[in-house]
Amino acid sequence: MNQSDLDLAVDLLHDGQIVAFPTETVYGLGANASDPSAINKIYALKGRPSNHPLIIHLADISQIDYWARNIPLCVEQLSQKFWPGPLTLILERGNAPLEVTGGQDSVGIRIPSHPVAQKLLKQFGGGIAAPSANRFGRVSPTQSDHVYEEFGDSIKLILDGGSCQVGLESTILSLVGNRAILLRPGSIRKSDLEATLQTTIESPSVNTTIRASGTLESHYAPETPIELSKIEHLNERILSLTESRVRIAVMSLSHRTTEELAQKNVHHITMPISPDNYGKELYASLRELDRIGVDLILIEKPPEDSEAWLAVHDRLTRAAHKDEPKVS
Ligand code: TXA
Ligand code: MG
Repeated sequence: MNQSDLDLAVDLLHDGQIVAFPTETVYGLGANASDPSAINKIYALKGRPSNHPLIIHLADISQIDYWARNIPLCVEQLSQKFWPGPLTLILERGNAPLEVTGGQDSVGIRIPSHPVAQKLLKQFGGGIAAPSANRFGRVSPTQSDHVYEEFGDSIKLILDGGSCQVGLESTILSLVGNRAILLRPGSIRKSDLEATLQTTIESPSVNTTIRASGTLESHYAPETPIELSKIEHLNERILSLTESRVRIAVMSLSHRTTEELAQKNVHHITMPISPDNYGKELYASLRELDRIGVDLILIEKPPEDSEAWLAVHDRLTRAAHKDEPKVS
């Protein structure tokens, strides 16, 4: 990305337009957080209900008191440890417009570390409201061409920052009302946050009244149906599906299926065995398998006994959920 793209991005934002930009997690669809009509353009473009709040991105913590209020003391510690980085904090709303917060009296704040996001935020000077740059309910983009795939020329500028390092959306921690609740798992783990906060973090209750579209069951779904299979059933499933002439693509962690799959002409991706690298590649791999036009994507379930896989499991389970996104 060159300086003239950056200048153009800043001009577009001041002009109430939308700019797609990279963060270390996924690409975002950014608008001036102080401009309600620019915010409404994001909802329209994404096809997202306007009561689903957006995260405000800041260059550093110095402006946080403007957007949020009654900020708990622990935000300082969390900020020192995890910002800039893939953590979003939900705080009491300060001057953030209700359009950004979906009408709620809380606001999501994140300070991203991606150098392009940092440059953009610094030069722009204000807050940038941005959801992931995908159509509502679809897989988040981790490369600039994914953003183009989603929106084509309806976005004037997509800043290119290469492939996102983390690849899964930020960890969301709510600190509203003297409680600490994990709303979305991410690469920063609950235990890392608990160690810093020195307190236990709650998981969201099913009946939570907090609206987070990441908490809708069937978020992050490709067009092709997905089935998750435990490793011990994987080969058997491949065999029975191919025998019944279901066209499948396979995403697995084990190499042991590779040869058989090649013989059967089944498109296959072997994923990294480290959860962080798996997370980094997940969305690009789902997009790749989605494009082939098979009947089913069969995915080997990663290990279920470790916290390190929690964010990946969360996204895989949502991707495999069959219903269309339910809007409450
Ligand atoms: O990594 C990320 O967080 C990316 C990058 C672009 O920063 N952004 C992202 O935004 O994933 P989005 O809008 O796709 O997901 C943000 C989630 C949504 O589920 C939204 O509802 C929730 O954050 N959220 C935002 N503000 C909130 C609030 N005030 N209360 C509860 N949830 C909130
Ligand atoms: Mg999203």
